[in-house]
Amino acid sequence: MKVLVIGSGGREHALVWKLSQSSKVSRLYCSPGNPGIAELAECLPMKATAIDGLLAFAKSEQIDLTVVGPEQPLADGIVDAFESNGLTIFGPTRRAAELEWSKAFAKEFMQRHNIPTASYKIFSQEEIQAAREYLATSRLPVVVKADGLAAGKGVIVCTTLDQALSALNDIKKQFGFAGNRIIVEEFLEGEEASMFAICDGANFVTLATAQDHKRVFDGDRGKNTGGMGAYAPAAIVTQDILHDVEERIIRPTLRGMALEGRPYKGCLFVGLMITAAGPNVVEYNCRFGDPETQVVLPLYPGDILELFEAACENALGALREPSFNHSTRNAAVCVVLASQGYPDEYPTGIEIQGLDELSGLNNVMAFHAGTKLFNGALVTAGGRVLGITAVKNNLLDAIHDAYQAVNHVSFAGMQYRRDIGRKALLH
Ligand code: AMP
Ligand code: GLY
Repeated sequence: MKVLVIGSGGREHALVWKLSQSSKVSRLYCSPGNPGIAELAECLPMKATAIDGLLAFAKSEQIDLTVVGPEQPLADGIVDAFESNGLTIFGPTRRAAELEWSKAFAKEFMQRHNIPTASYKIFSQEEIQAAREYLATSRLPVVVKADGLAAGKGVIVCTTLDQALSALNDIKKQFGFAGNRIIVEEFLEGEEASMFAICDGANFVTLATAQDHKRVFDGDRGKNTGGMGAYAPAAIVTQDILHDVEERIIRPTLRGMALEGRPYKGCLFVGLMITAAGPNVVEYNCRFGDPETQVVLPLYPGDILELFEAACENALGALREPSFNHSTRNAAVCVVLASQGYPDEYPTGIEIQGLDELSGLNNVMAFHAGTKLFNGALVTAGGRVLGITAVKNNLLDAIHDAYQAVNHVSFAGMQYRRDIGRKALLH
């Protein structure tokens, strides 16, 4: 089969890496890809949002399956475009992806279908005065969110009323259309976890749960980032909680979306808050998470291509591959190596050393996120540069091996967290 992966980050490198292990894949393409991906797939020069060009390529090359990494092309309707041309593509339609591209839609959907989530109120730009009054009566902390896609920057957790009022103004100013509507939400107390369900519109298979480390510094301090590392499976998600999430969140989500005429096919990423009262949805994403994918896919024991194919053919119900078995002891840890200054301004074009020393290690993967080749040398090209992942039969050893591998790699200004996976050991 000819397979095309769309995107260029660590998530897409992990997808390409996993797909490259499938005996059914004969040609693997990625657009636009990165230098790490280029070792496994043929990279194309089109951006992930260049839907017309990608479609033309998939048609002329007779691509059998396309897998979409990032949310923007999904929100732009890449799945609709491919399907109306008779092409098979793994991902939700534009209308199904609304679970991610409109937080207001997602909240109202959850309310309609009785899916546990924080209580909330939605305000339009014209209702900003009412929003101010509502905030003045809200319990603190309170969460203020932009409705639309905001590259992970549209959520502000506010501990004072002043902060909440300025968050309201900032969202309006910063996000334009994305901030057209604003959601004010109850703050949920608990621990977060990420869960990915591979869905075919009616049935699903869950993959390993994971925990991201969003803050830039050790001990969950400093600014929010795209994610500084992850581990899987998430210690907080016991077998009972997992069952709860499947029955009270994922199944009703798929049923509700089908009922509303937007059957959900693709990877449904549920961002969870595990509270004392049980799991709640913090957000839905309509795609794989990054960096979580870099630890979740290495733990998947089967052929991921078969799973994606079955999802596209509405055949997950008949698949023998079970959902992730949480009694497994295997664990994966991914440490993100980031540029100096990230998540704020950072330099690029800095030479990366030592990666070749990792190629002999069979349980370690160096997933590229923001790298490029310049005059034959591998240099930094983004905030998150590399994701160093190790897989072992227990978490402590996986942590150990990941950091051993990190020690081989360097570039000027490289920063990373030293405590990825540590929070699991508290359970
Ligand atoms: P989101 O982009 O919706 O995932 O939100 C980003 C981060 O904000 C989440 O990962 C949480 O850490 C935090 N957050 C969002 N909503 C809530 C909430 N209702 N209660 C507590 N924390 C939240
Ligand atoms: N790791 C969070 C995300 O991909 O949105």
